[in-house]
Amino acid sequence: MFIIFEGIDGSGLTTQSKILKDYLEEKGNKVFLTKEPTNSHIGRLIRKTLRGLYKTDQEALALLFAVDRSMHMDIIKKELKDSLVICDRYYFSNFAYQMLSVDLDHLIRINSRFLKPDLTIFLDVPAEVCKKRIDENREHIEIFENQETLERIRKNYIKIIKLFKKKGYDIVEIDGNRSIEETHAAVAACVEKFLE
Ligand SMILES: Nc1ncnc2c1ncn2[C@@H]1O[C@H](COP(=O)(O)OP(=O)(O)OP(=O)(O)O)[C@@H](O)[C@H]1O
Ligand SMILES: [Mg+2]
Repeated sequence: MFIIFEGIDGSGLTTQSKILKDYLEEKGNKVFLTKEPTNSHIGRLIRKTLRGLYKTDQEALALLFAVDRSMHMDIIKKELKDSLVICDRYYFSNFAYQMLSVDLDHLIRINSRFLKPDLTIFLDVPAEVCKKRIDENREHIEIFENQETLERIRKNYIKIIKLFKKKGYDIVEIDGNRSIEETHAAVAACVEKFLE
């Protein structure tokens, strides 16, 4: 089972994916938690780019993500043989963020050979709330992290989710604009139902 968390910056992806891992392990599952960009040399390059240390156009950035993802696929496929895999961001992030400046069909094409997730959880939180969380909790701000851009990315996510649901993807939208515990309860209920 390949589970993805998606949402805008500060929506709680890292927080919720860690709590879900602990929850599922407590229930006796073997769980592998991973994230994108990964810790590979390409992933590190991407992270520096997101911090604004390197200038890269958005199409090139999407290609870098695809290289990182291509290497990530081998790891994920191996883990899926005997574990539940939870991934903190996947190609939907590239669609929602890079479609601000790159053609969506092109983004979908360059990701077309990667593994289809079994379940995608979209944590929906208004940009204003996310911006506040980021400002309160982080020492550095990334290139997409202003309220107006985050709100545009959130709207992109909503469009993409509609499109991919039509393509037969299982995507669940969860209100993440509440406490960590309440959000987790909703996530856990959704995953339980899916695992049944
Ligand atoms: N439901 C919540 N209510 C209040 N604060 C939260 C909530 N969920 C997460 N936070 C806090 O907001 C900050 C951002 O959360 P988190 O790192 O999980 O977000 P993220 O979606 O992974 O963001 P990023 O894009 O930075 O990776 C963290 O400091 C976290 O403790
Ligand atoms: Mg995170």
